[in-house]
Amino acid sequence: MKPEAVRLGIIGLGNMGRHHVETLLNGEVPDCELTAVCDSNPVKQSVGKGLPFYSQSSDLIHSGKIDAVLIATPHYSHTPIGIEALDSGLHVLMEKPLSVHKADCLRLLATPRKKTQVFAVMLNQRTDPYYQTIRHMVQKGELGRIHRIHWTITDWFRSQAYYDSSAWRATWEGEGGGVLLNQSVHNLDLFQWIFGMPHKVHAVCSLARYHHIEVEDEVSAIFQYYDGTTATFITSTGEAPGVNRLEVIGDMGRLVKEGDRLTFHRNQVSSSDYIRSTPEGYKMPPAEILDISIPDHGEQHVGIIKNFVGAILRGDKLLSPASDGLHAVELINSMILSSVHQSIVELPIQAAVYEKTLQNLIFNSHFQKTVSPYQGGFGNYLQKSST
Ligand SMILES: NC(=O)c1ccc[n+]([C@@H]2O[C@H](COP(=O)([O-])OP(=O)(O)OC[C@H]3O[C@@H](n4cnc5c(N)ncnc54)[C@H](O)[C@@H]3O)[C@@H](O)[C@H]2O)c1
Repeated sequence: MKPEAVRLGIIGLGNMGRHHVETLLNGEVPDCELTAVCDSNPVKQSVGKGLPFYSQSSDLIHSGKIDAVLIATPHYSHTPIGIEALDSGLHVLMEKPLSVHKADCLRLLATPRKKTQVFAVMLNQRTDPYYQTIRHMVQKGELGRIHRIHWTITDWFRSQAYYDSSAWRATWEGEGGGVLLNQSVHNLDLFQWIFGMPHKVHAVCSLARYHHIEVEDEVSAIFQYYDGTTATFITSTGEAPGVNRLEVIGDMGRLVKEGDRLTFHRNQVSSSDYIRSTPEGYKMPPAEILDISIPDHGEQHVGIIKNFVGAILRGDKLLSPASDGLHAVELINSMILSSVHQSIVELPIQAAVYEKTLQNLIFNSHFQKTVSPYQGGFGNYLQKSST
């Protein structure tokens, strides 16, 4: 091993962990060597292709074989495993979501760590040049003042076989949520990364609309911002054909990302200014239509791991620091809270209130979970909604 390489361990060798193992064994992350793996299910030992294997995360964490750990286990275990890893001085890369709810995120983030200890979260869609471009344009003010945002992200289609593939999936007790926490956490992270956190949230979370599950598989939400900006956010895992359409309306025009197309309908003058002073007549001068060319969707997971390694070895700025992972979780918690109580929720939410709500959902559950390990493989479902 190179003297300057990070020795990485992976905990959780399921769909995602296995993908990370392959990436690392293929040498796709320079200066990083996968040196040990862990899964509570001993059958997963073969995933590590002969690497030292542990069936207890504590044993890997204290093995002395790793400097850093990537945690790819079911959501509730992120907090206890993450705290133990941070406590023992390891650098930590947590799979999304940072944790299930705000209180657990705060517990994780409050774990004392050395200044040099890196703690990041796998928000891989932040590496996507489409979203980076939109963020840059919004922050530079190219759209002027933002008035409305619409994101319809319904191309997260999942079959019943997907939900049945693991015991923890799609229950309040095992996963802590559905499409919001598992799939749309990416979009909600991007949403707040680009536009900031809303002030009020009103959501309708439809539970088990399409699948035999007990959590939400379709959501329609309205967000309000202090400055009057409003937004809609709609997501589903049961709709086909789905769409991924993000539309941003500002004084200077309309920016639309749909699939692989990013189009800016750019106004010649600010619409707000024109409303106030319309010397030439009733109608706005026509917008010019600009197709913005973006070559691909970026490095995704491997990009985040490279950035994590760069932060450890060279102090590179993290693209997705763990502290950022809290925001999408808080947004998700607020949406479920709003739906359960059929009310408008103001942010920031009280962590203890949501934790109690979730405990009640778990306590009152009578759901009978079906589990039948899926044999067919999941193909490229990981990449599906990066477009
Ligand atoms: N970033 C992404 O694009 C992406 C995509 C899919 C999944 N994920 C995330 O990855 C994580 C895992 O999801 P998955 O789909 O791979 O789940 P999975 O059920 O396929 O795999 C989870 C694995 O963790 C193991 N495990 C469970 N508890 C453990 C423990 N305490 N210690 C060690 N091993 C344990 C299980 O045996 C299983 O092998 C979740 O946080 C999920 O949201 C991220």
